[in-house]
Amino acid sequence: MSAPAPPQMERVLFTAEQVEGRIREIGAEISARFAGRDLKLIGVLKGSVYFLTALSRAIEIAHKIDFLAISSFGAQRPSPGVVRIAKDLDEPIEGEDVLLVEDIVDTGLTVRYLLQTLAGRAPNSLAVCTMLDRTSRRLVPLPIEYRCFEIPDHFVVGCGLDYKQRFRNLPHIAVMKP
Ligand code: IMP
Ligand code: MG
Repeated sequence: MSAPAPPQMERVLFTAEQVEGRIREIGAEISARFAGRDLKLIGVLKGSVYFLTALSRAIEIAHKIDFLAISSFGAQRPSPGVVRIAKDLDEPIEGEDVLLVEDIVDTGLTVRYLLQTLAGRAPNSLAVCTMLDRTSRRLVPLPIEYRCFEIPDHFVVGCGLDYKQRFRNLPHIAVMKP
């Protein structure tokens, strides 16, 4: 049973059990596809930390993790297209099979920028794994290999996603009251 949503929330979109179930399924898919390969999960701070650690535990093969941070402008949705690496990876990714792990892909501008940047570092392969995918607001076409859920155009929090840096710790994904 999930805890009830806080009063600022309109409704729960996905329960903790639903999120955990999808992460287990995707973890199994990734384990099968990358067996015998040099897998690295790259998380985008801070939102993807919660999803990345859950996904990492659901993956049965050996793998590494690393993180980068991008600058974001504005308290809610970052200004589209204005992206800069604020904290780079600790290690090179040359020759590795890289999965870029995101909390949510919205316009796609952040992920497009990161894919372009990471592709220039000669990984063996590069793919995207996102918890949430809001395709209705996409501005640039993107290959999304793994995603837990597609969501409608509502602002959501929980499982790492924040509103003004709060609510990341909710175990479910909730729609904020407008
Ligand atoms: P985009 O795909 O470049 O538009 O940016 C996606 C980023 O915007 C995500 O990584 C989040 O940090 C943020 N974001 C977009 N939609 C939401 C939301 O509904 N809740 C919380 N953060 C969001
Ligand atoms: Mg993010």
